[in-house]
Amino acid sequence: MIASRIIGHRGAAALAPENTLAGIRMAAECGVRWVELDITLLGDETPVLCHDDELDRCTNQSGPLSFLSAIDLPKLDAGVWFDGSWANEPMPHLSDALLLCQELELGLNLEIKPHGIDANIIARKVFEEISVYWHQPEKLIISCYEQEVLSAYRSFDLFAQLGLLFDHLPDLWLLKAQALQAVSIHCDCQLIDQDEIKQVKQSGYDLYCYTCNDTALGKHLIESGVDGIFTDNPTLFNSDEFRGHLQSQSSGQPA
Ligand code: G3P
Ligand code: MG
Repeated sequence: MIASRIIGHRGAAALAPENTLAGIRMAAECGVRWVELDITLLGDETPVLCHDDELDRCTNQSGPLSFLSAIDLPKLDAGVWFDGSWANEPMPHLSDALLLCQELELGLNLEIKPHGIDANIIARKVFEEISVYWHQPEKLIISCYEQEVLSAYRSFDLFAQLGLLFDHLPDLWLLKAQALQAVSIHCDCQLIDQDEIKQVKQSGYDLYCYTCNDTALGKHLIESGVDGIFTDNPTLFNSDEFRGHLQSQSSGQPA
């Protein structure tokens, strides 16, 4: 489970370039205890933090990530697109992100972005990196929109905490969660309703909603039983009023 109500989305994507080491540091500075990061593979199967399958939006280069190898990483600037003051921020290798999160005592929801890569290949690669570089299994949730990828990950690790990602909660969500022995359900905060929140919670799963950048909506979701929200801007939820509100909720989880 994610022992925190507020989860920094892609690090702290509104405050620092997403899926970078600087973004992870920013999230920690904002006081969050967990971050969500996206991982995909370069063409040579190097695991890197990146949401997209192309370089264009979040780096100073263009083209598919599948055309790159580890030797190309030093040429990439994953910060300057966000703001010149973040120039020279690298696209992180997954291992560096894992080590930094642990150094900062952050929990991690690692979202696998397959982008058409074979489920077994990407799941195995992530599993291998986690096996070497991550030492607190209770502070890690692996999530993905693709059940096949989570299923492959489960075949490598019987005990991993898996989170099923959906836009809108589908009818067969419970069967899918049971098949994977998932611990959590992750849904779009704009699409979930009260009845669905109740269903997930009554079935014994944790429920996390993305991406909430609105304090009132965040408060409403937590009041409705959602366990945590992903936000690009954790400072929106740093007020004493919001923290007091979180403490007053029944589960007693820290903010
Ligand atoms: O993991 C929650 C959320 O990040 C899923 O959507 O597109 O922001 O990765 P996306
Ligand atoms: Mg994500």
